Amino acid sequence: MLAMWRGEDGPVRIWEDRCPHRGMRLSFGFVRGDALRCIYHGWSYRTDGQCIEIPAHPELTPPKTICASSYPAESRYGIVWTNLERGGPAPFPDLGPDEGWLPVRSLYVNRPAGQVEAAVESFDFGAPSSIRLKNPSAILLGIGSQMEMLLAIQPVNADRTGLHAVVRGENASAARADLARRMQHLRAEIEAEREKK
Ligand code: FES
Repeated sequence: MLAMWRGEDGPVRIWEDRCPHRGMRLSFGFVRGDALRCIYHGWSYRTDGQCIEIPAHPELTPPKTICASSYPAESRYGIVWTNLERGGPAPFPDLGPDEGWLPVRSLYVNRPAGQVEAAVESFDFGAPSSIRLKNPSAILLGIGSQMEMLLAIQPVNADRTGLHAVVRGENASAARADLARRMQHLRAEIEAEREKK
């Protein structure tokens, strides 16, 4: 589980959803300025994860060993990307400037990521489509001659996958509602396929 938050300084942070004190979920906490405060005993963590305040011991400077566990985080194209392996940066595709991307929708499919990817590649999104980019975390589709749709693939576990879509292009604004509906149909198709087996 992850806790995602922003301080007043702006960048998004993704942390393990576990307070170093007694394990309370940090996603239940609250942001004050550039710090995240745990809801249980109020320990406060600054943006690099270091604990900076223990309300029950206001005179104490928390030791450096009390630190929330973090993952890389990047907000690009309206999607937040991370790397749970911690071995490198968040693996977002390089699609140039962030401007122009509009949200379509996010949904979760009860199928493995590989099957979801295969279904995306052959699905009818309402106009001739082609794969312009593909990596383990995303598929970029050209849809018709004037739109691009980016689908971020989020493996939740071995049998559940998140799909997060944004679109850009001349007709993107008008097409969003239809694309969102089609994504629901896509999910229904994939999950129906599972039941037949
Ligand atoms: S569990 Fe978070 S402050 Fe105690």
